[in-house]
Parts: sequence; C-alpha cells; structure tokens
Amino acid sequence: MKQKEKKHKILIVDDEDVNRRLLVSLCEGLGYDFTEASNGREAVEKTLQEMPDLILMDVMMPEMNGFEATERLKSDEKTQHIPIIIVTSLDSREDRVRGISKGADDFLTKPIDQEELSLRVRNNIKIKEYHDFLKDYNTILEEQVEERTRQLSEAFEKLDRAHKKVKFGYMETIYRLTLAAEYKDEDTGLHLKRISFYTRELASELGMDRVFVESIFYASPMHDVGKVGIPDNILLKPGKLAPDEWEIMKNHTIIGAKILSGSESTYLKMAEEIALTHHERWDGNGYPRGLKGDQIPISGRIMNIADQYDALRSKRPYKPPFDHEKAFSIITEGDGRTLPEHFAPQILDTFKKIHKKFEEIYEEHKG
Ligand code: C2E
Ligand code: SIN
Ligand code: SIN
Ligand code: SIN
Ligand code: FE
Repeated sequence: MKQKEKKHKILIVDDEDVNRRLLVSLCEGLGYDFTEASNGREAVEKTLQEMPDLILMDVMMPEMNGFEATERLKSDEKTQHIPIIIVTSLDSREDRVRGISKGADDFLTKPIDQEELSLRVRNNIKIKEYHDFLKDYNTILEEQVEERTRQLSEAFEKLDRAHKKVKFGYMETIYRLTLAAEYKDEDTGLHLKRISFYTRELASELGMDRVFVESIFYASPMHDVGKVGIPDNILLKPGKLAPDEWEIMKNHTIIGAKILSGSESTYLKMAEEIALTHHERWDGNGYPRGLKGDQIPISGRIMNIADQYDALRSKRPYKPPFDHEKAFSIITEGDGRTLPEHFAPQILDTFKKIHKKFEEIYEEHKG
C-alpha cells in the first residue's frame, strides 16, 4: 500500500561470493535495493540494523546456518514479519520441511530462475506491506480512540458518537484494502457490507453477546484478504481450477491469517481467526487444517455459511449468480460440492430460520 517511490530492500545471505553476486545482480535488475551478509549471524545483525523488506537465506553456511538465523529472526517480535525465502538446492524436501518448522515464508531452488525469483519476492513483499499497513492503521485507530476517551470522558453521549466515527473510518479502510485484495470489478464494497450484515444477523440470532456481535460485524469483511497473495491467473480464471491451482488457492486462508496476525485489537484478532478457519467444515473435510466440529471457532462457522450464501448469489469469474431459492437449496439440501453436513447443525438451523433475512440483505445491497 506504500507508494512505489521507496525502493524495497532485500537482504541477500550466502557464504559463497559467486552466489551472492548472482542474487545481487538479479535483485538489482528487478529494481530492488539490497544489502548482504555472508552467514547467519551477520544476517541477524544486518536485519536488526537495516530492517530489510525481505530476506533471501542460504541454508549451509559457517558460524550460523540459515535455519538457525531464520528461527532467531522469526522468534523476535521486531523481525518476525519480515518474509524469509529459503534458497535450497533442487529437490531438498528435508530442507523445506525444516525451513517451515523454523518459520520460513517461502522457498526458491538453485539454480535460481529469474522469473520465479521475481514472482516470489513480489508476492512476499506484498503480503508484508498489507500486514504493516494494517498494523500502522490499527495503532492510529487505537490512539484516536484513546485520545477521544480522554477528551470526552464526562460526556458519554459524545464519546459514543466519536467511537462511531472512528469505526466508520475503519470500515472504509478495511473495504478498500479487501477490495484491492479481491480484484472485484464492482468497486463498491457492497459484497463486504452484505457479509457484515449476514454475520451480525446469525451471531445475534445465536444469542452471542454484544461484543461478539459487534466484533464479527467489523471482522468478517476481511475473511478473504489473503487472496492478495494468490496470482491473478488463478484468482480470475473463468473455469474450474486445476489441482495444483486449487492447492495454491487454499493458501488464501493462511496468508490472510498471517496478514492480520499480531494485533491487540479485538476486531483484528477475530478477523485473523475467521481468515484462518472460514473454509473448515463441521465434518472435518475443510481446509487448511481439516478441523472438525467444536475445534472450529464459532466465528469461522458463522463466516462459512455467510460466505457460501453470498458466493452462490453472486457472479464469479467461474460461475453465474443463483437466485435465493437455489442458494437456499444448495446449502440446506446440498449439490454434491456443498453438503448439509459441512455446516454446524446449530448454525444451519439458524440459517433456515432466518434465511429470509439473508435474502433481504442481498436484495438491499446488491448494487
Ligand atoms: P468464493 O468464490 O468467494 O466462494 C466462496 C465459497 O462459496 C466456496 O468456497 C464454496 O464453498 C462456495 N461456492 C462458491 N460457488 C459455488 C458453487 O457454484 N457451488 C457450490 N456448491 N458452492 C459454491 P471454496 O470452494 O473453498 O472456494 C474458495 C475460493 O476459491 C472461492 O471463493 C474462489 O475464489 C476460488 N474458487 C473456487 N472454485 C473455483 C473455480 O472453479 N474457479 C476459480 N477461478 N476460482 C475458484
Ligand atoms: C520495488 O518494489 O522496490 C521495485 C520492484 C517492484 O516493483 O516489484
Ligand atoms: C494493491 O497492491 O494495492 C492492490 C492489490 C493487488 O494488486 O494485488
Ligand atoms: C452500523 O450498522 O453501521 C454500525 C454497526 C455497529 O455499531 O454494530
Ligand atoms: Fe475464502
């Protein structure tokens, strides 16, 4: 979200001069700034000094290897959101597994392919920028709320209005951010508003407390923000996804949770939980973790049915819009792809009870 005037800086970590020079020239060619380190220990020091936007990390190095450096950087709050791409030799499955366990964000294999390098670097920087943006924004929001609380502590009515205003600004930002991530043509944010309304209806009908109901209203529109990390050719594909494309698409849950992680804000905490769990299914056949039943947080269970209803009613690059009756029957009776046992029974019952409200919300905000 930052403007392009500031060049992003990449820390290149490798003990071999030849390898470093190659990566330096590739990164320069792509328009990035760079800085170098020749082992893990130096990498940790340089990271703290220069706070690069991304790290390309070799594995085998003297003094401190790439895994240990990754582990240190990922366990330090100051550096844990800097993406680390581990550079390994071809077919080194073991390195990948180890890299993931140390918190690496992505992998590149030697010999380095320039196009692949460019793609991975860009994607990982984009994800970090969204994360940084949300974090900054949230700090501002919290400061504003605190400031107003101080000023107006004796006038509760005014305080209430001030909070509302801040929240409106917050929603605006969330809408813009999420719209950018989803590449929606209709730039109105109406589908995000509908998601807020459906989830609020379900939550209050389920008897959730006021804080939960308000939180899900603000958090639910961010459920798909991780789609910013999915390549266009997959996101906008007019037809069915191939198995390898589907594997990538499923990552939008994990990417979203990563973008939204690490905040103190109740809304963003719930948004992280929803991003991660909104495609889990009650019968355990969902993704990314295959959670089952009560393991799925209630926010994710609510989001799942609201998401599907809205996706079924809407036009997508890969499907036409369906009317309320068809969407209702796909959810309550199933169509092979969707089955009633995917949904928490209590939530499915609640949906059946208030489905007319869903129809009203869709009709009122369809743009
Ligand atoms: P989305 O388009 O927002 O759809 C959200 C969810 O609504 C889907 O989650 C699915 O549970 C439900 N849904 C959407 N369309 C249909 C439909 O025609 N029939 C039924 N029974 N359910 C439907 P899911 O499957 O986990 O997909 C997640 C995301 O992956 C989708 O979000 C979309 O962005 C993408 N995707 C899924 N299938 C395709 C596809 O065939 N082509 C493309 N280009 N993208 C797809
Ligand atoms: C940069 O972000 O510093 C330039 C490279 C790019 O546009 O992706
Ligand atoms: C943006 O980066 O501002 C838009 C999102 C995207 O193009 O991926
Ligand atoms: C609104 O309806 O826009 C405000 C939502 C709320 O405060 O719960
Ligand atoms: Fe999703």
